[in-house]
Amino acid sequence: MRRKFVVGNWKMHKGPQEADALAEALKKALAGRDATVDVGVAPPFVSLPAVVSRLKHTGIVVAAQNLHAEQQGAYTGEVSSEMLRQVGVAYCLVGHSERRQLFGETDASVARKVGACFRSGLLPILCVGETLAEREAGQEAAVVTRQLDAALGALGADQVPSVTIAYEPVWAIGTGKTATPLQAQDMHATIRGWLEAKFPAFVAKSTRIQYGGSVKGNNAAELMRMPDIDGALVGGASLNAEEFLAIIAGAATASGG
Ligand code: 13P
Repeated sequence: MRRKFVVGNWKMHKGPQEADALAEALKKALAGRDATVDVGVAPPFVSLPAVVSRLKHTGIVVAAQNLHAEQQGAYTGEVSSEMLRQVGVAYCLVGHSERRQLFGETDASVARKVGACFRSGLLPILCVGETLAEREAGQEAAVVTRQLDAALGALGADQVPSVTIAYEPVWAIGTGKTATPLQAQDMHATIRGWLEAKFPAFVAKSTRIQYGGSVKGNNAAELMRMPDIDGALVGGASLNAEEFLAIIAGAATASGG
């Protein structure tokens, strides 16, 4: 019942022109496809208008990479959920580990940003994941559970299924060191178990949990074949149309499509 969802996080790559070219390549390649997989891209802020316009009516959804929790005000350099909605963005990444590690985001600020998404009708893609030190200390489940409690614990059961959860172990991001399908599945099962414990059964059944961290064309299918891995959040490999398309094909294979 959960369709695979593959999203490319372009991070700080691709200004408007390059972003438009990549969006155009994806649009062409995916036109008329038998859509067994949901696909999205998350360009930098300044490239959002071009990509939203290029991907209109294609079924490829567009996400922002971040937002501010307030709707407007004296917050120099920030962008609100309301502004993103006006640009035509449907999704927004929240709490990516790079934001948590490099830009001081906390569980509390991540929770406020999830709230801001809901206020503007944006669908959050909530990123969670442990560092290498936390995994080595056997703390990975505790860390991820703490992040989930903070970001989603206070939401209503009707809201949670519109959140996509992305499990991204920090040690696997940009390192070429993918979690094994079993390591990833194990954490995805923990996350689904957390949803089961907190909310009515339909929530755990319908909420999508993506894996992120060095997903490539050659490991996508085996990861997404795992029962609780409902898609991928892809960094580096999403910057190249061919490689990203191979991941989407892997997702289709894993869905039996
Ligand atoms: P890589 O796919 O480059 O490891 O990045 C993963 C990621 O951070 C996606 O949000």
